[in-house]
Amino acid sequence: MEGNLPNDFIDDIRSRFDIVEIVSQYVQLKRSGRNHFGLCPFHGEKTPSFSVSQEKQIFHCFGCGEGGNVFTFLMKMEGYTFPEAVAELAKRAGIPLPETRTSPAARKVRRGRQRLAEMMELAARFYHSHLQQPGGRRAAAYLKQRGLTAETIKYFGLGYAPQAWDAVKAFLVRKGYTEGEMLSGGLLTDSERRSYDRFRNRIIFPICDQRGKVIAFGGRALGDGQPKYLNSPETPLFNKSKTLYALHLAREHIRQSKKAVIFEGYMDVIAAHQAGIGEAVASLGTALTETQARLLRNHTEEVIIVFDADTAGQAATWRGLAILRAAGCLVKVGVLPEGLDPDDFIRRFGGDAFRREILDRSQLLVDYQLSRLIARYNPENDSERIILFDKVAEVLAAVENAMEQEDYLQKAANLLKLPAQAIRREVDKVQKRRPVAAVARPLPERQPAGQKAEEKAPLQILALWARFPGLITETAATLQPEDIPPEFAAVFAAARQRAAAFSPALLLDLLTEEKYRQILSRLLINEEYDEKTARKAVTDCVNYLRCARIARRRKEIEIKLAKLDPGVARGEISELSREWLTLRKMEEEINQAREGGKGVGTEYGKRT
Ligand code: UTP
Ligand code: MN
Repeated sequence: MEGNLPNDFIDDIRSRFDIVEIVSQYVQLKRSGRNHFGLCPFHGEKTPSFSVSQEKQIFHCFGCGEGGNVFTFLMKMEGYTFPEAVAELAKRAGIPLPETRTSPAARKVRRGRQRLAEMMELAARFYHSHLQQPGGRRAAAYLKQRGLTAETIKYFGLGYAPQAWDAVKAFLVRKGYTEGEMLSGGLLTDSERRSYDRFRNRIIFPICDQRGKVIAFGGRALGDGQPKYLNSPETPLFNKSKTLYALHLAREHIRQSKKAVIFEGYMDVIAAHQAGIGEAVASLGTALTETQARLLRNHTEEVIIVFDADTAGQAATWRGLAILRAAGCLVKVGVLPEGLDPDDFIRRFGGDAFRREILDRSQLLVDYQLSRLIARYNPENDSERIILFDKVAEVLAAVENAMEQEDYLQKAANLLKLPAQAIRREVDKVQKRRPVAAVARPLPERQPAGQKAEEKAPLQILALWARFPGLITETAATLQPEDIPPEFAAVFAAARQRAAAFSPALLLDLLTEEKYRQILSRLLINEEYDEKTARKAVTDCVNYLRCARIARRRKEIEIKLAKLDPGVARGEISELSREWLTLRKMEEEINQAREGGKGVGTEYGKRT
């Protein structure tokens, strides 16, 4: 590809830029000796191993091995192709591109993206202009009623999508765009017979990439229409999990104030910027992703998440926090008074009050977690105290830095009025139970079908039963019906009924689903087992299934508990707490029994 642009042109462009300056637009660099160092934007890390050499005009990450020159950097960072990276810098330098001999296919792809980008820009202007027109009067009045000034509306490029099936469509057709392009940019919705404007009679919030190019839209219903917010789908330009709303406007503010503020809603961000809190961004209606965390971490260490009181307890919220922490952010939590979102608060009390009361008083994540737990569980109540103790230990166990952990231990000891030693013992136990506590570990999004241990365990049991039918009656007794995943219930019942005649052939007759059969045939020819090890292996699988069910139920309870208000649901909280405790005891008993026996080395036997 490089051959398409003349080499002397490429060299000329390269020489006009300092890599340190370009990289600094994305990564906070600190000079150390001859090089500059910062946190690698290409992998998650907490200590800088990403270096930039001014002398050699190259970058290199000692952590992940990425490296290259200023063009390679932009390619990685912005997803450009090489010619796109050169073209971008040429544009910034104000130098026209020479005629190139790119391959027609590559030129077509590039041209396609470029047209899409221009189309989004035009659409944004179209929506914006409609705020000024008679049809947009209600929308303009709505924005005004929500306290936005004309200047703010312009700054964020807000707009109005007319109430029509083909307003933007007709406009863009006139500009020479095809229906296919509009569909691909997410501006139209496809029905069976025809396509029509996706956004109708909605306030429009343009969503931009880091450089301020419009890549998508959010549309808010006027009044109580449903859904309240409608967003563009994923498109060649728009990847929701890699975008933060208003980051292009917040970037410089974040660097200057050395912190970022994260909200949940577009309106919250806009109100904040208007009130002088320019370091505010929002996730796009989903839990924070690793990429988003890294985007922020490139500009600052400190990140303050501000929640409404209602969302503070939700599982997705905690996961977002864990992800920020894993990306090396110093995470703080700002909590709003019951019933107010950031926009409400700012409109009622102003930006200064928001800084003073919410941002300046935000708590470090662990402090926040501890204070929440103590507000939730009553230490006077026996069973609640045990959970409280256990949860506190879990929070502390997730603190990686030993000195920090010691500080928090003392703090927790004071709060719980217990000797620090007792808490330390509990923390040690948690740490042994799982090396990385749940809160610090981003969960894998999904596992490939058929590979799930919970699916494999029942298959393993069935396979061993088929080969050693003598085991069926004795081991079946230990298996509770609720431990068997529903899709296998019928096969298990059949196996017990026909224990005497059970065989690999019969099993394959009973389980006809292709994805199971493949796993089964592998299990059925496993040579490692004699009857004795098979018996132990079946027990391991049974225990595994039981633990999995218990863990699921415990998780359910934890989610419920997090949502309950201790002020009104005391009774329910105690009841759930008791069930939680019983489950934990069961789990411990199973684990002890397991450790007592001799391991045979199935993957289920080793699980804790
Ligand atoms: P909220 O319902 O809290 O809205 O959703 P808000 O920002 O306070 O909006 P106003 O003040 O009623 O206008 C928070 C965010 O969740 C996403 C949007 O990003 C929204 O800003 N969301 C919400 C959706 O994507 N779809 C929805 O239907 C609702
Ligand atoms: Mn709101």
